[in-house]
Amino acid sequence: MEKLKNGFEAENPGLIDSIISQFALDINSLHGIKHWRRVAEIGNYLAKHTGADIEVVNLFAYLHDSKREDEYEDLWHGKRASIFVEELYNKKPFDISKSQLDKLLFACEHHSNSNVKSNDVTIQTCWDADRLDLHRVGTIPKKEFLNTDFAKQDEVIELWGQVV
Ligand SMILES: [Fe+2]
Repeated sequence: MEKLKNGFEAENPGLIDSIISQFALDINSLHGIKHWRRVAEIGNYLAKHTGADIEVVNLFAYLHDSKREDEYEDLWHGKRASIFVEELYNKKPFDISKSQLDKLLFACEHHSNSNVKSNDVTIQTCWDADRLDLHRVGTIPKKEFLNTDFAKQDEVIELWGQVV
């Protein structure tokens, strides 16, 4: 794990420990740390083009699936993640504003429900980063489930299927 640590992990060791120590699934599972790192990587790439807030995107990457109890639908894992975010924030606030926190909570709560939409580019970028990592389970992300025009481009969808 040490070797793959990215800048966000290096800067937030306490937060990362708090997330990992409560994670109910195997940390190396499909929704574990490899996926969190990948969502952060994709999110940072997308944010350069969409103008999304990188801090929110990074926090989303490591928190959105942190309350999963199974690898299947687990309907309420997004809601549980948003509650967990509030608990963590109330104990030792991340260095983000109330408006950033509100975006993070909304993005986590609704990330697996494609019927919920947002006009906020940061929330859209969080969701697109998560969906572009569907390649890891052999699924090609569908444009209708992506939110930003940038992520909907064929070359962007294909890129994250090639980069391992
Ligand atoms: Fe995810």
